[in-house]
Amino acid sequence: MERKETQAIPRFAAIVVAAGKGERLDHKTPKQFLKLGGRPLWRWSVDTLLDISKLQVLYLVINPSLKQDYERDMPDDPRINLVSGGQTRFESVKNAVGKLDVNSPLVTLIHDSARPFAKKVEIEKSLRLLSSYSGLTFSTKVLDTLRIDDNKLAGETINRDKLRAIQTPQIFKTILLKDAIDDYKGTANPTDETQVFSSAGHDVVFFDSDRQNFKITTQEDLDLARSIISTTADIRVGQGFDAHRFDKDSVKGGVRLCGVHVPKSAPLKGHSDADVGLHALVDAILGALGQGDIGDHFPPSDPQWKDVASSVFVEKAVNLLRKESATLQNIDLTLICEHPKIGPYKDKMKERIAKLCRIDDSLVNIKATTTENMGFTGREEGIAAMASVTIKKEGV
Ligand code: CTP
Ligand code: MG
Repeated sequence: MERKETQAIPRFAAIVVAAGKGERLDHKTPKQFLKLGGRPLWRWSVDTLLDISKLQVLYLVINPSLKQDYERDMPDDPRINLVSGGQTRFESVKNAVGKLDVNSPLVTLIHDSARPFAKKVEIEKSLRLLSSYSGLTFSTKVLDTLRIDDNKLAGETINRDKLRAIQTPQIFKTILLKDAIDDYKGTANPTDETQVFSSAGHDVVFFDSDRQNFKITTQEDLDLARSIISTTADIRVGQGFDAHRFDKDSVKGGVRLCGVHVPKSAPLKGHSDADVGLHALVDAILGALGQGDIGDHFPPSDPQWKDVASSVFVEKAVNLLRKESATLQNIDLTLICEHPKIGPYKDKMKERIAKLCRIDDSLVNIKATTTENMGFTGREEGIAAMASVTIKKEGV
């Protein structure tokens, strides 16, 4: 197929079907909730699609009885709408197509959440083609020799030159898709929309995709996906340092360190809540991402950050990690001061940081040291903190 890449990407609606039972993958939970590189499987394609600015609305088709399981990992994006799925994939798609109306974008893309590796650039290229075609499906050439299974003996060879393996995304002109689905009278359980669309008499063009866009159906597929991720993962390290002076004139008692109130101390001076521990952590995360420092993202000159709880900065840094498909592997943080004594609060700090970063407690370590009365911390002028983090960026 000739590719007309000069066309603009049209605004589009997306339907991601994620309401199946995953019966061919024998786990306690349906396959869309299994973790791949720290994210549930369904999030992969949703994140890829949300990253395309021309996406106007995304219908995520879910199993309504497991709504909370989806909501736990839901990206904060107003374009997402939840739709209840049905007993079959076709019913699930039909429920979402029912939501499309005259105000919907002219183009609708349908994708299986079980295909995590659909690439943004390929989706963008294919969307451009919809100005020239009514329907399009991702597909690959068949490269293996195909033979009929004749009672376990190698039967007739099939000419593979005329065969294509069909994938999703599949993209259609919205109005034609709606009518094709409403009027469909073919076999009871079509496994894709190309079948429905072409049975209404419309052409569907093949878009050359790649074999990495495979569907996770069996345990072998899941193992393959996990090994792809592990070989392409990109490990990065970030470090952060911060220091704040005690506010000895303050009437307030206590200090906030690593998100925990420590009572027996003077507070620290600062534009926000002056939590040195969390500031060092934010700098470490931004450093690992290669995205500057805390002052670039939350400038002290900007009044919106005045007296803000530093947990807000951590949450924003963690959202940036998600956006970059990166996950925190561990955090190691050292508080440097003569007073207050940190030991009794270490466990609380660890828990608080793990919660803020949405990771397990075991991945967070808090240490404390004095500087034996040397330097500014030794003279008890303030508190300093150092943090190191490792992150893993998924490479696909
Ligand atoms: N799907 C759906 N609603 C259904 C059945 C399937 O939304 N009633 C979705 C699945 O969540 C999956 C996609 O359609 O993303 C492709 O289907 P398939 O790979 O068959 O997934 P499952 O039906 O979940 O798996 P299985 O057939 O092994 O039970
Ligand atoms: Mg199925």
